[in-house]
Amino acid sequence: MSAKDRYNITMTRHASFSTSHFFNQDMAEAYDQRNSGLKPISDSLHFLMALLLKDLPRDARALCVGVGTGAEILSLAKAFPDWTFVGVDPSAEMLSVGRHRLEQARVLDRCELIHGYADAVTETGFDVVVTLLVAHFIKRDDRPAFYAALHDRLKSGGRLVSAEISCDLEGAEFPAMLEDWKSIQTLMGATPESLGKLEDMLRSVLGVVPPSETEAMWQAAGFPLPVPFFQAFMIRGWHAARR
Ligand SMILES: C[S@@+](CC[C@H](N)C(=O)[O-])C[C@H]1O[C@@H](n2cnc3c(N)ncnc32)[C@H](O)[C@@H]1O
Repeated sequence: MSAKDRYNITMTRHASFSTSHFFNQDMAEAYDQRNSGLKPISDSLHFLMALLLKDLPRDARALCVGVGTGAEILSLAKAFPDWTFVGVDPSAEMLSVGRHRLEQARVLDRCELIHGYADAVTETGFDVVVTLLVAHFIKRDDRPAFYAALHDRLKSGGRLVSAEISCDLEGAEFPAMLEDWKSIQTLMGATPESLGKLEDMLRSVLGVVPPSETEAMWQAAGFPLPVPFFQAFMIRGWHAARR
């Protein structure tokens, strides 16, 4: 079975885990308000991403995987007025909120929104693929196929930009990083009860892997040199170019 077939099957199997459970109607409606406490972090991530991508063609075409409520499209559309976008997400509820935000920002006419996983995007040859705060929702075993799907949708020389929760859960620094992470979660409205479950969430529910493992998976997918460009507590970002 090819990596892509495996991705299609496992992503379907995990749909209830990643979309129905987390990104349901309630989450979609609350997402932007909940994330507003993180604005300094997402602003910084988006600012650095735009710097990384400033030399792409003026009319670049971008694929945003796990586009959710459209944050990265809104930011890139402002920085690059001639870019066009394909956004894909398995949560119809998140996409619906995103569609509304993009319409309000008058950028919807530059966007195509697709309900599904990366494999639902039949177009290839993108100048850039962006996937922000998505990869940790994908189990470790399914990650190689996820990155391969992103790789295959880029043109030669096209760029991947990705940020995810990334941490060595067995590392000596993990307990301290967990405490730091709790302060972020508190800003996002976590209760003492949910903070108590945070470690289990990182270990058992999400697919958090150490940074070195993400880099190795990018290389296995065909990106010769993953370059780290961002870290805010447990959120780390990399960029790379397709050969
Ligand atoms: C935390 S949100 C991030 C949304 C947006 N990228 C942002 O930065 O605000 C994660 C999104 O990833 C989507 N998602 C979850 N599993 C996915 C998968 N396997 N492939 C693509 N998207 C996925 C969810 O539906 C959700 O909209």
